[in-house]
Amino acid sequence: MNIVVLGPGAIGSLWAYSLHQAGHTVALYSKQEHDKLPLQLDGNTPITLANNQPVSLQNADVLLVTVKAPQVIPALEVLRSDLHPDCIVVLMHNGMGTAEIVASRLPNNPLVLATTTHGALRQSRHQVLHTGQGSTQLGGYNSKGNQCDFLQQVFAHALPDVYWNENILDALWLKLAINCAINPLTAIHQVKNGQLADEAFKPTLHQLLDEVHQVMTCEGLTLSRNELNTHVYNVIQATAENRSSMHQDICHHRLSEIDFITGYLIQKAHDHQLDVPSNEALYQQIKRIEKSWTS
Ligand SMILES: NC(=O)c1ccc[n+]([C@@H]2O[C@H](COP(=O)([O-])OP(=O)(O)OC[C@H]3O[C@@H](n4cnc5c(N)ncnc54)[C@H](OP(=O)(O)O)[C@@H]3O)[C@@H](O)[C@H]2O)c1
Repeated sequence: MNIVVLGPGAIGSLWAYSLHQAGHTVALYSKQEHDKLPLQLDGNTPITLANNQPVSLQNADVLLVTVKAPQVIPALEVLRSDLHPDCIVVLMHNGMGTAEIVASRLPNNPLVLATTTHGALRQSRHQVLHTGQGSTQLGGYNSKGNQCDFLQQVFAHALPDVYWNENILDALWLKLAINCAINPLTAIHQVKNGQLADEAFKPTLHQLLDEVHQVMTCEGLTLSRNELNTHVYNVIQATAENRSSMHQDICHHRLSEIDFITGYLIQKAHDHQLDVPSNEALYQQIKRIEKSWTS
């Protein structure tokens, strides 16, 4: 297949390299101005891929979007006119809220959503490390996207394990819930994920998850409050030594994905006339930190 990866950072480069190795014609769209870019995964042989070539987009069967959530809409806007209406658009990022906008701006394209637990780290602009083996879930967002379950095989052949999830929004909501609990707290307190298991964080986590669970229930999810607790504490334990992406973003004075994580939760809570004061407080704290860099 002809596959374009928009945003070849850590996760995008991991997929671009793996899809190329699986035999696909892979091209990149990045913020770099060169026609071609070298790319190396771990210690493997470097490859060279086309970059920012409109012809790659015009011929693309799949556009894999791996920019961070705040960049999805502006990045897609620039290349919208070159995108064929049959091209399958796959959004792979943390957080929620972009799919609604993409679906309205690209109403004819099949839209597929993805979430991955692989770990990737950019060592330099052209070198990426696969730091953690994980799995990926894909699922259709619109009716044309629902017909793209063959992508499971395409992606699984490149970087297993991959599952097609008929209820991808449920998977994204669960990931959002986990992110709402872990990301702002670890970023504000500058702690590794595992430290959230300390007694001191228990009351705050409890309140956050009560609020998140209420919103999820109103959104039609059937997960129980206890199950949500178990998922969150399992992730805290399994990733105890990790620094969350928001913790890293705040450390490096990079804009975080808070608007698409806690911000999305707050927006949905308002839709259902629910109050989520603990989540609002963390949202405001992250926003204040981000604002302090520019003032
Ligand atoms: N890394 C992981 O292990 C991991 C695991 C699971 C999920 N995720 C999620 O995956 C998403 C991507 O994360 P990441 O770690 O890969 O981030 P990243 O390394 O920052 O990659 C994002 C890439 O998008 C590029 N970009 C930004 N705006 C663009 C535009 N308008 N056009 C083209 N390219 C653009 C960035 O370029 P510049 O660097 O030049 O700005 C960067 O190369 C996030 O939502 C993250 O939470 C990451």
